[in-house]
Amino acid sequence: MPNRPRNIDSYYRPHVRELEPYVPPEALEILAYRAGFDPAHASKLDFNENPYGPSPRVMEALASMTNVHLYPDPIAGELREELAAYTSMDPEEILIGSGADELISLVVSVFVEPGDAVVDLTPTYSMYGGVTLQHAGRVVHVPRGDDWKVDVPAVLAEIERGAKIVWVCSPNNPTGGLATEEEIMPLLETGAPVVLDEAYFEFSRHTFAPLIRMYPNLIVLRTFSKLAGLAGLRIAYMLANRDILDQAHKVKLPFNTTLAGQVAATAALRDRAYLAANLDALLAERQRLVTLLREQGELDPYPSAANFLLCRTSGDAPGLHRALAARGVYVRHFPKPRIDDCLRISVGRPEDTDRLLAVLEEVRPAARRAEAVRA
Ligand SMILES: Cc1ncc(COP(=O)(O)O)c(C=O)c1O
Repeated sequence: MPNRPRNIDSYYRPHVRELEPYVPPEALEILAYRAGFDPAHASKLDFNENPYGPSPRVMEALASMTNVHLYPDPIAGELREELAAYTSMDPEEILIGSGADELISLVVSVFVEPGDAVVDLTPTYSMYGGVTLQHAGRVVHVPRGDDWKVDVPAVLAEIERGAKIVWVCSPNNPTGGLATEEEIMPLLETGAPVVLDEAYFEFSRHTFAPLIRMYPNLIVLRTFSKLAGLAGLRIAYMLANRDILDQAHKVKLPFNTTLAGQVAATAALRDRAYLAANLDALLAERQRLVTLLREQGELDPYPSAANFLLCRTSGDAPGLHRALAARGVYVRHFPKPRIDDCLRISVGRPEDTDRLLAVLEEVRPAARRAEAVRA
């Protein structure tokens, strides 16, 4: 007589059972439908995507793609060659991933044992912590100081206590500022793995990648999801020395990226003129958005080196978030300490800026509108 089957619950890894589920954002179409909007007349300013999308050459390359019945090149040789020229690194110093999120997970797989600590600099991108918990690691949040500066002594103390990785996002999502050499060099000098997430680097034209040759503990992550407009194809890259990449290759799934992702990213890099024109348009729009928001006064933007602005509201950020969404303008609100009275707004097209400003004017409390008219 077989034993009674055990409940599936008793087989789960305890730390997985404890994880909070990721709640996916609702699709634009659903939000728009609920608010009675045509999605074509909505402004999607919530995920820092590129509203212009990729180069027409990318779409042509995708349309003429062959061999989709074969597995893709597991090491994406052609794309790495193209990236070597783009980044001034060797192809052997480049690993391709299915989005920077996959690369974050790879880094954690390489370094973090259950119970190990990693440091993130709050407020920052939530995946560093989320992925660490998936791997049964511990997250030590070192809060940023005034002007979102890194608290270097506090991070050094955590490294001294054995923290395995320091995550530095530059430009930082969601606060928008760049890490400085004064902040990064002391961390690199410790020898502990320091990951510079440069997902938004093109918007700042600032990178720490050249330091990889001097500091074998430096890892730089970048993505095609932002300036290159390929968020839907999940393609990104890691720059690091060969030793680290050798380890990362051991834990990477062989066919981690799709043929479409590789083809699209290669074609995107071959159309530098399109990337440059897009960058100019988005930087000009960032400036225009800052100027108009400051004039209008309802939102107060922090300086940004990325394609988004973190803006202080005058109070009820969740309420304003809801009011904007009901009128087809989708931005992000983070119910987290120190930024729960803020909204993060991606830089869009001029018509997105115009729609946002018009809606802000419409929902602004009548008293403040009257004040503005008197002023
Ligand atoms: C700082 C940062 N890193 C990584 C990512 C993830 O990028 P990917 O789309 O390549 O997974 C994002 C996406 O918003 C991000 O803001």
